[in-house]
Amino acid sequence: MAALASSSPILKCAAPDLLRDLDLTGDELTYLLDLADDVKRSPRDYSQALAGKSVALLFEKPSLRTRLTFEIAILQLGGGSVFIEGPIGVREPLKDVARNLDRWVNGIVARVFAQATVEGLAEWSSVPVINALSDAYHPCQALADVETVREHFGGLQGLKLAFVGDGNNVAHSLMLNCLRLGMDFALACPPGYDANPDVVMQAQGLAAASGTMLTLTHEPAEAVAGAHVIYTDVWASMGQEQEAVERREAFRAYQVNDRLFGLARPDAVFMHCLPAKRGEEVTDSVMEAARSVVFDQAENRLHAQKALLLMLLS
Ligand code: CP
Ligand code: NVA
Repeated sequence: MAALASSSPILKCAAPDLLRDLDLTGDELTYLLDLADDVKRSPRDYSQALAGKSVALLFEKPSLRTRLTFEIAILQLGGGSVFIEGPIGVREPLKDVARNLDRWVNGIVARVFAQATVEGLAEWSSVPVINALSDAYHPCQALADVETVREHFGGLQGLKLAFVGDGNNVAHSLMLNCLRLGMDFALACPPGYDANPDVVMQAQGLAAASGTMLTLTHEPAEAVAGAHVIYTDVWASMGQEQEAVERREAFRAYQVNDRLFGLARPDAVFMHCLPAKRGEEVTDSVMEAARSVVFDQAENRLHAQKALLLMLLS
C-alpha cells in the first residue's frame, strides 16, 4: 500500500459532504485509507490541521465509539467540538437548525434516525455534513473497517467479507465499500431482512465495474465459505427495539458461533461494529477469540475519521 508523506497537501473531497458512502469516489476512498494510516503513524504531524475550527455533533441516538472518536479526533487535530443530543427538527424546523449552525461552525457530524435528516442538514447549510449513522448507512464505520482489514491482511484485493445478520445500515456501507476496493462481499440474512434493493443495485454495478463478486443468500454457511472476514451486527438496530423479540426468533440460525467461524478460512478474522449483544448475534467465545479484531476496528474509527475530517474540513 502507498505511503503518504505528512507534508504533502491534503486532497479535498469533490463532494462537500459524506452523507452516503458513494459521496467519496473510489480514488478518494483509497487516498483516505492511506491518509488514515499516516495519521495513525504520525499523529503529531496533524495536530494543528483544524486549528480555529469548530464542529457540531448532533446525535439523535446514543453512541460510545462514534461520539468519542469524533470528539477526540477533532481535539487531536487542534479543533473544538460541541455536542447536542436529542431529536433534530422537532423544537424548530430542520432547515432553521441547519441555518443556525451554518453561522457558527465549520462542520456538522450528525447521527440520525432518517437519512433524510442528514440530507436536509446538508441542503440547508453550507458547511460539510458527515453522516455518523442513519437508518440507511454507517459510512464512518465502513471506513474504519476497511482500514482494519487492509492493515490485518496487508491489502484488500481478492479478499472476501461475509456479513451474517441483518441487511442493515452497516451491511449497506460495507457492501458499497468492499466491492469497489476489490473485495468479494457475501450477505447472509433471514428472508424478509434483506438489504435495500436500491443499495443492492448500486452494489451490483460496483461489483461489475471492479470484477468482484456479490453474493446474497439466506444460508450462513454459503456466505462464510472461503471468507477472510466474518462480520455481524445486532439483530435489532437502534429504533427497532420493539421488534427485538420477533427478530431474535427470525435470526436464531444466523448467530456467529464457533461452528460458523470454523467454516470460514482458518486465518479468518471476526469483526463487529459494536455494541455487541453476546449470546445473540455472536457468542462470547467468538468475541474473545484471538482472531477477533473488534477493538482494532474501534481504534481505527479515530484514525479514519481524522482522515475524513482532514479531507472535508482542512
Ligand atoms: N459502532 C458504533 O457506531 O458505535 P457507537 O454506536 O457506540 O457509536
Ligand atoms: N445497526 C446498528 C449499528 C450500531 C453502531 C444500529 O443502527 O443500531
